[in-house]
Amino acid sequence: MSALHKMVGLVGAIMVAMVITVVSSSSTHDYGDALTKSILFFEGQRSGKLPSSQRMTWRKDSALHDGFEIGVDLVGGYYDAGDNVKFNFPMAFSTTMLAWSVLEFGKDMSSDLPHALDTIRWATDYFLKATSIPGFVFVQVGDPYGDHNCWERPEDMDTPRTPFAVNKQFPGSEVSAEIAAALAASSMVFRQIDRGYSARLLKRAKMVFDFADKYQGSYNDSLGPWVCPFYCDFSGYEDELIWGAAWLFKATKQINYWNYVLQNMPKLDSGNTNGVSWVGGSFAEFGWDSKHAGINVLVSKLSMSTISTESLPFISNADRFICTLLPESPTLSVSYSPGGLLFKPGGSNLQHATTLSFLLVVYARYLNQAKRAVHCGDVVASPARLVQLAKGQADYILGSNPLSMSYMVGYGEKFPQNIHHRGSSLPSLDQHPEPIDCKGGNDYLYSENPNPNLLIGAIVGGPDIKDAYVDSREDFVHSEPTTYINAPFVGVLAYFKSQSS
Ligand SMILES: *[C@@H]1O[C@H](CO)[C@@H](O)[C@H](O)[C@H]1NC(C)=O
Repeated sequence: MSALHKMVGLVGAIMVAMVITVVSSSSTHDYGDALTKSILFFEGQRSGKLPSSQRMTWRKDSALHDGFEIGVDLVGGYYDAGDNVKFNFPMAFSTTMLAWSVLEFGKDMSSDLPHALDTIRWATDYFLKATSIPGFVFVQVGDPYGDHNCWERPEDMDTPRTPFAVNKQFPGSEVSAEIAAALAASSMVFRQIDRGYSARLLKRAKMVFDFADKYQGSYNDSLGPWVCPFYCDFSGYEDELIWGAAWLFKATKQINYWNYVLQNMPKLDSGNTNGVSWVGGSFAEFGWDSKHAGINVLVSKLSMSTISTESLPFISNADRFICTLLPESPTLSVSYSPGGLLFKPGGSNLQHATTLSFLLVVYARYLNQAKRAVHCGDVVASPARLVQLAKGQADYILGSNPLSMSYMVGYGEKFPQNIHHRGSSLPSLDQHPEPIDCKGGNDYLYSENPNPNLLIGAIVGGPDIKDAYVDSREDFVHSEPTTYINAPFVGVLAYFKSQSS
C-alpha cells in the first residue's frame, strides 16, 4: 500500500515538474485583454432585442416572440452554446458563476465591471420573466430537436420556439433551485448599484426556492425527452436545493436557510437512485449539473465571516476535493494531458478546467485568510500552490500549450477558426441580408472556409487528452463554445489580472 502510494507520489512529482516547465517556458499573458474578451463573448449569445450598446455588431435581434404563443413574454436570455435553444438550467448556472465572479473579483475588473454587470442583468431580466407566474417556472424555450436539425442563424430561426415549464404537478427542483441561486447571487451583485432591482431579485429568489423545495422532483421526469439527453439532471436535485439555500443564506443571513443546508447536506454523501444505493464521491464534482464541491467551497468561506463551521464537514470536504485535483496528491482523481491540462470525463472538457480553476483561486483566498494549508496525505499544499495550479490551467487555455494555440477566439495569434456555432459560421445579416433556411446553412456548416464572424472571447471545448486539436466545425465536443465554460473564467481572469498588474 505504502509502496503504491510512493509510486503514485513519484508520478505526481514528475507531472508537477512537467506542468511547471510548461508554465515557465511561456510568455506571460495579457489577462486584462482576455478578461474583456471573455465577457464580450456573452453578447454573441444574446437572444432577444439587442440594445444600442451592443458591441458585437454582427449579431442582430432574434427570437422576439418567445413565449407569445402562450401569452407570456419570454424574450431575452442567452443561447447556451452553438445552437439557438434557451436551456435555463445551464443558463442559470452560468449566471450564478458570473455573479460569484463579480462578488469575489469585481473590484479587480475596473473598466470591465460595467460590462460584467450587463452580462448578469441580461440573464436576470430574463429569469424574472421566466418566473413571473407563481407556481410555474419556465425552464426552456425552443424545440431542441427542431433546432438541432437545422443550421440557421438565430436571426432567421423558423423552428418551433416551444416554451417548456415545470409546475406543482410536474416539478423541476434542479432547474428551479439553480434559478433561485442565480437570482440570490445576482441580488448581492446589484445591492450597492441598484437597490430596487436587487430587492426584486432577492424576493423572487426566495419565491422560486420555496417552489423548488415544496414541489420536489426532477425535470427529467416531468419533461423527459424535451430536456434529456440535452441537459439531463444526472446528479439529482438535492445539490441544487442546498446550493440555492446556501446562496439565499449568504444573501439574507436568515438562519432558516442555513439550517436547510445543515439538515440536507448529509443527503449528498449517500443516497438511492432508481433502487441503487450509493455512497460519497460527488464531493469532487462541480459544474452545471453537480454543485457539490461548489457548496463546500462557498460554505467554507461563509465560516470566515458569519458562522462557525469548524466542526462541520464543509471544510474537510473542500480539502478532500482539492486533493483530487493536485497532481502530487495521493488521492488525485482527475487526469492531466502531457501539456498539463486537467481532464475529467464528459464533453466540453474546458468547462472542467475553468470551473475548477475558479474554485481553486476562491479556496486559496479562503485558506490565506484562515492561515491554513490543505493536507493530502503527507503532501501539504499551500494556497500559493492552488493558485499556481489554476494559473497553469488559465495559461494553457490562453496558449501556453504544446500547440501554442489559444482556445479563446480572438485572443493571441493562433485560435480556433471553425468553431461549432451557427451564428459565427454563417454570414451575418450585414453580409447576407436574405434569409438562409434550415438546410441552406449546411453549405456553411460543411465548408472548409473559416467562420466569417469572430465570436470574440468564446472558449471552445478544447483539445483532446494528448493536447491535439482538430479545428473542425463538425467536432462539436471540442469546437463548441458554451456559456458555462466562459462564466467561471471571467472570475479567474479578473484574479490573475489583479496579480499581474
Ligand atoms: C435523468 O436522466 C439521466 C439519463 O437518463 C439519468 O442518468 C439520471 O439519473 C436522471 N436523473 C434523475 C434525477 O432522475
